[in-house]
Amino acid sequence: MNSGFFTQSWLRLNGFVTQVQHKLVKGELPAKTKTQLKRRRGCVYLIGAGAGDVELLTVKAYRLLQQADIVLYDWLANKEILKILPAETETVFVGKRAGHHSMPQEKICQLLTAHALKGKRVVRLKGGDPSIFGRLNEETRTLSEHDIPFAIIPGITAASGCAAYSGIPLTERGCSQSVRFVTAHFKNPAEQPNWQNLASSKDTLVFYMGLNRIEDIAGHLTGHGMDREVPMAIIDQGTTAEQQVCYGKLGNIAQQNLWQSFTGPALIIVGEVVNKRQKVSLPLLAKQPP
Ligand SMILES: C[S@@+](CC[C@H](N)C(=O)[O-])C[C@H]1O[C@@H](n2cnc3c(N)ncnc32)[C@H](O)[C@@H]1O
Repeated sequence: MNSGFFTQSWLRLNGFVTQVQHKLVKGELPAKTKTQLKRRRGCVYLIGAGAGDVELLTVKAYRLLQQADIVLYDWLANKEILKILPAETETVFVGKRAGHHSMPQEKICQLLTAHALKGKRVVRLKGGDPSIFGRLNEETRTLSEHDIPFAIIPGITAASGCAAYSGIPLTERGCSQSVRFVTAHFKNPAEQPNWQNLASSKDTLVFYMGLNRIEDIAGHLTGHGMDREVPMAIIDQGTTAEQQVCYGKLGNIAQQNLWQSFTGPALIIVGEVVNKRQKVSLPLLAKQPP
């Protein structure tokens, strides 16, 4: 082959690319070509892994994980999930744990975008449900800005998982008709929740990220008028084999010893529903039940 052949081929290819670019700008490309170009951009699945127990993963999440080229996962997502991935799937830990060194959110958004723009099927695996204290919007906004198609697969949030595995109903007719998920981790410490409003409600209150603020939470609620007899439960490593639950009341939780050794992640449930709990037979959930 001579150099003229290469030059001609190169010019033809260049001309074709320019033509496509012009048509793309003018919106003249046939629908099929547009879809093909989009497909080459890749896509992102934001998947909730469920809280704790690896078997809380949904069937849809399982399938999409099998099909992923790359999985970016958080510290809260059960690492056992990585074992079900095909050997060739790339995995990246983008660990985010409050108070610990973690990858900045901007960097995570950049990684998601970069891999999707390379044409990969990217899974962003988050603990619990991605839409609950999962910084979902920061990631979906970035993907939208880059016109990257994405889908969100819900997961079992810590509130549902911990309540179920400790036998506490989150709502109960005649006792609690609604439930509130509250973050105890404020980006700006001065930005406190409306304690007056929380203390006067009959809702079940579920505090996420509150292990270091248990006394603070109880103090704020009673300080704003909530009865010191209102029960509370602190669930450590909920739904896992290491789950431990400490029960107390707003007025005496500081004197309970059990929670002082908890490592987290831990969830706090406040409300009359805690007194409605019934003993759950967790061994029934084992792969080979008794
Ligand atoms: C950044 S938030 C993420 C919540 C997550 N997106 C969800 O829906 O469960 C992290 C907090 O969730 C709670 N959490 C997550 N997994 C938990 C578990 N297995 N047991 C108890 N609390 C858990 C803890 O309060 C933890 O500090």
